[in-house]
Amino acid sequence: MARRVSKRKMPDRDDFRVKEQWKIEEGVFDRKTMMNIEKVFTHGIVSRMIHIISKGKEADVYLAEAGEKVSEMYAVLKIFNQENTSFKRRTEYVKGDPRFDGIKADVKSIIRIWCRKEYGNLKIAEEAQVSAPKPYYFRGNVLAMQLIGDDGVPAPILKNIGLEDPEKVLDEIVENMKRLYSANLVHGDMSEYNVLIKDGMPFLIDIGQGVSLGHPKANEFLERDVTNILYYFKKRYGIERNHEKVVSQIKS
Ligand SMILES: Nc1ncnc2c1ncn2[C@@H]1O[C@H](COP(=O)(O)OP(=O)(O)O)[C@@H](O)[C@H]1O
Ligand SMILES: [Mg+2]
Repeated sequence: MARRVSKRKMPDRDDFRVKEQWKIEEGVFDRKTMMNIEKVFTHGIVSRMIHIISKGKEADVYLAEAGEKVSEMYAVLKIFNQENTSFKRRTEYVKGDPRFDGIKADVKSIIRIWCRKEYGNLKIAEEAQVSAPKPYYFRGNVLAMQLIGDDGVPAPILKNIGLEDPEKVLDEIVENMKRLYSANLVHGDMSEYNVLIKDGMPFLIDIGQGVSLGHPKANEFLERDVTNILYYFKKRYGIERNHEKVVSQIKS
């Protein structure tokens, strides 16, 4: 027989679950971040934090068990570091973007906007059928998205894997950049670090700095994205592609 839990008790249970997790991560999250994580739990997006996948300068990425609102087994939480001052230089990505006109530009606000921006950009990517993680939810500085990986094991980044068919992967990356561009977005931080390889196919991640084509530097960022990707494929796999051709392919 199922154990009866009164409705009044339910939030406490969720609260307890989060607090238990908190013990593991004590000292890692500030109060505000903790409250945001709690919302991800109470919204049924995540039911358990499993372990950290990546500790970055600006954000930490965690593997989590998905909650009842998510049809997959796992989810990924990207938690932006509220205290991070390196975000200051990122204000230019937000300030020039017409979508963010008239927005406050202190570091804490920028981080929240950043998180929302990554969520929004992932949504656009999803609609444009770009291979990228599906966004589930965001709250403040916490973003929940699909795990790109198998059975709870995150897929490797492009840099850490030897490709069997690099020409095909490069074609796919360019095709995904083209779809993004058609949806009015430029990734802005394309490199061998921000592409995951699953089943021999690329997935674009870390899309928070993506800018819309109305941004004054959109073109410059696109050029740089193409330069970075072509440089990597040339250096590692000896593949030569004409920069201008690839750019016009993306824009066509
Ligand atoms: N959706 C995801 N699925 C699997 N692994 C991910 C996912 N998102 C991020 N990662 C892992 O976390 C690392 C850091 O994430 P990323 O979004 O690139 O943040 P940053 O580079 O700002 O630290 C990635 O290199 C990747 O290994
Ligand atoms: Mg990254």
